[in-house]
Amino acid sequence: MTKADEMRFSFASASSKLPAEILAAISADVIAWQASGMSALELPFTGKDFADILAQAEHELRAVLELPECYRILFLQGGASTQFTTLPMNLAGEARPCDYVLSGHWSRRAIEAASGWCDVRVIASGSNGSLPEPASWRRSSDAAYCHYTSNETAEGLQYHEYPEASDVPLIADMTADFLTRPIPIERFGLVYASAQKNLGAAGLTIVIVHEDLLGQAKHATPASLDYARQAAAGSKVNTPPTFAILVALRMLTWLRAQGGLDAAAARNIAKSAKLYAVIDADNFYRCLAAPRYRSSVSVCFRLPQPELDLLFLQEAQENGLCHLQGHPAVGGIRASLYNGVTDEAVTALADFMSDFKRRRG
Ligand SMILES: Cc1ncc(COP(=O)(O)O)c(C=O)c1O
Repeated sequence: MTKADEMRFSFASASSKLPAEILAAISADVIAWQASGMSALELPFTGKDFADILAQAEHELRAVLELPECYRILFLQGGASTQFTTLPMNLAGEARPCDYVLSGHWSRRAIEAASGWCDVRVIASGSNGSLPEPASWRRSSDAAYCHYTSNETAEGLQYHEYPEASDVPLIADMTADFLTRPIPIERFGLVYASAQKNLGAAGLTIVIVHEDLLGQAKHATPASLDYARQAAAGSKVNTPPTFAILVALRMLTWLRAQGGLDAAAARNIAKSAKLYAVIDADNFYRCLAAPRYRSSVSVCFRLPQPELDLLFLQEAQENGLCHLQGHPAVGGIRASLYNGVTDEAVTALADFMSDFKRRRG
């Protein structure tokens, strides 16, 4: 078996699988970007070649999301974790409270990071494999914004319905499920997502912000973290992640050719349903997420004993099914099924799960 055979299917949460045709295209881009005579890695961010790439990426993202003109797209560095503090820096003003929904690991991280920059109000908390329903959120009328996490990647919990808009801007960390399904963007003041799950390469963070929210950054916010200044500079206050933006452009073109967000949602539901069917067949595999909150992109489960988790991971790896360990904060098994993960990979995993249960159950 060659190394490539051993690593046949990856279910990693970050970075995720990229479609084979994207890998082929960006391999060629690394050698030469179109007629520029340069590698795509060498393009100056101030030059025309990169300006065209950035404009096309924005065009594709606007088209796939059907994004109204009143929203600005920022192509930033720093990951979603940097947004955890950038948000209150930009939107909390000098003293306004901010509403947060605590639904799992990543929203907890967002709350901890924001606490140093604003008066955080936790308006709802989830427990025992469930998410707090939007109708139960105690949304304040004086908050600067209301933040929630649409997919809790560590626990495998996902809001399948989007909250309603209110007078307080709604903000979502969509890092795990951005571009895996349609988004009613007009309900949101701002959404953000790292690219390494569904939009290509690590290093790029997308922020989509309503223009009414620009221009409120706290005094002394660094220019590279100031939404208004980045919007005015076309995301070029400092060097943007140029190559990751090109990969995002390739991914967006591919996504549109695959039928856009409706088709992506159908594919992701079908992929996850294959694994949940094996999990639900009996009591061998246990999914802690309540059925209505089960994620279609982060399928998390456990086996009857922790030793079996380890054996499962080892045998899966030997069968070319890689990076299935759960998030360190949660443990167990996690299959991340982002847009680049194929049906073939998921079928291979479902077959392996059935076979493992037959042999070890
Ligand atoms: C929902 C969510 N938010 C935030 C993050 C952190 O993203 P980054 O590592 O790009 O900062 C992750 C990473 O998995 C995530 O799943």
